[in-house]
Amino acid sequence: MSSQRYFPFLSFLLVLVLICVSWYPCTSHESGLCRPYSQYMKTIKDFMFQDSYVFADLALIATKTFDVDSYGAKGDGKKDDTKAFKKAWKAACSSTTEAVFSVAKNKKYLVTPIKFKGPCKSSLTMEVSGTILASKQESKYKKDERHWLRVDHVDNLMIRGGGVIDGNGDFWWSNSCKVNKTLPCKDAPTALTLYKCKTLMVNDLTIQNAQQIHISFDNCENVRASNLQVTAPGDSPNTDGIHITHTKNITISNSVIGTGDDCISIVSESKNVQATGITCGPGHGISIGSLGSKNSEAHVSNVIVDGAQLTGTTNGVRIKTWQGGSGNASLITFRNIKMKDVSNPIIIDQNYCDQAKSCKEQDSAVEIKNVTYQNITGTSMDKDAVTFDCSKNHPCQGVVLREINLTRKDGGDTMAVCNNVKLTYVGKVYPRCPKDTTIQKQQAIGAYSYR
Ligand SMILES: *[C@@H]1O[C@H](CO)[C@@H](O)[C@H](O)[C@H]1NC(C)=O
Ligand SMILES: *[C@@H]1O[C@H](CO)[C@@H](O)[C@H](O)[C@H]1NC(C)=O
Ligand SMILES: *[C@@H]1O[C@H](CO)[C@@H](O)[C@H](O)[C@H]1NC(C)=O
Ligand SMILES: *[C@@H]1O[C@H](CO)[C@@H](O)[C@H](O)[C@H]1NC(C)=O
Ligand SMILES: *[C@@H]1O[C@H](CO)[C@@H](O)[C@H](O)[C@H]1NC(C)=O
Ligand SMILES: *[C@@H]1O[C@H](CO)[C@@H](O)[C@H](O)[C@H]1NC(C)=O
Repeated sequence: MSSQRYFPFLSFLLVLVLICVSWYPCTSHESGLCRPYSQYMKTIKDFMFQDSYVFADLALIATKTFDVDSYGAKGDGKKDDTKAFKKAWKAACSSTTEAVFSVAKNKKYLVTPIKFKGPCKSSLTMEVSGTILASKQESKYKKDERHWLRVDHVDNLMIRGGGVIDGNGDFWWSNSCKVNKTLPCKDAPTALTLYKCKTLMVNDLTIQNAQQIHISFDNCENVRASNLQVTAPGDSPNTDGIHITHTKNITISNSVIGTGDDCISIVSESKNVQATGITCGPGHGISIGSLGSKNSEAHVSNVIVDGAQLTGTTNGVRIKTWQGGSGNASLITFRNIKMKDVSNPIIIDQNYCDQAKSCKEQDSAVEIKNVTYQNITGTSMDKDAVTFDCSKNHPCQGVVLREINLTRKDGGDTMAVCNNVKLTYVGKVYPRCPKDTTIQKQQAIGAYSYR
């Protein structure tokens, strides 16, 4: 008799037993099985944020997989697979048991813009093991020119799988006004947008050649992103790596980013942002801002960049604000950062102006307060390794330079340019501001400076 015939029955029995066992009132809470089923379904958050991986294994048993191939996707890189993706998503999102939306390995799926819309009925994993490639069919982007793949209002989501999300951006780049000055400036899509997602984990993915921004966390809460590879040519226009906007409680770790714009950009209404283990370059560095464009109000606070290696970038760690804005950027720490051949390794630019027309002088500014730079070393491409170009009316306050050593790539001296900044030195700091340039007498807590 074939044992295969018993398999479905046996697995049904196993699931039944597991469910019963997990309902069983426990005396010991050490085992993962000792939690009521309903609670276990809710523990995705605990699992994600406290690394109790027991639940991950348990979850697999009750999981249902929705493979785009079973919904008609070809994955040959030629046929438009958008419909299959949409169908598979709809099914996965309405699944009452934990669902896996799956994109198979070693295949290439061509898709036009897709909105992966929530809320979904249960927690969900997007397992991207193959390649998702953006279609270049321009007409399909007419309805929403700003997004290619957009995940919208999905909570308890995990995106992972070791696959590739490829924006196929060269067409968009050549149509950028920054590349071809005769063309009008217009937006291009962000490759992957996570919009209003709570409790989100993005892990082990490559995102490359985005039309514009690679991955944007927009209005999200409680995010962990790790082991991401984000790449585009150094001359591709506006291709920010990881963009964080209106997002609270986000950690980005162990990621390698090299693009044509900021490796990481953190903008308005973002709070509690942590980036660790970041490798950046080529690109424009790690930025807070730009903030306050078109007289807008912006608030960014509690940002820490701890542990980064920047190579050949046009800026290192930067805060940039437009004249005429309001609000503030505060409690920002950049520490344990190594620079190699970086232009403007440390820079605050309150006169940022990224437009063809020059920006007119304005009185108001996004205020910059409590910014600490600690243990930042390496080489600068320019003589000005440190630049604080702060607003006359709203000087930068509470800026601390601590254990800084930035030398010139060719061995020459470096300098600090300091306008309207209230500054404190701690420990050895090189370079330092010329004595008369900051608006306040510098407190030298450290005994001596380099050189
Ligand atoms: C720039 O765009 C114009 C208008 O579309 C086009 O005629 C021209 O060939 C483009 N230039 C380059 C260098 O691609
Ligand atoms: C962010 O994390 C803090 C501390 O862990 C928590 O108190 C707060 O509620 C979280 N905020 C959001 C918006 O989830
Ligand atoms: C931030 O800016 C706003 C408006 O400019 C101001 O009212 C508020 O007090 C500031 N908050 C902090 C914490 O400095
Ligand atoms: C300074 O930062 C580097 C990384 O750039 C790190 O390896 C080193 O341990 C840090 N030093 C201290 C004293 O924390
Ligand atoms: C912010 O900086 C000011 C100096 O401008 C300092 O007095 C204050 O203690 C700092 N606050 C924090 C929370 O570091
Ligand atoms: C600062 O860096 C330069 C270049 O790496 C090095 O020669 C010098 O010893 C460093 N200074 C200190 C005090 O570590």
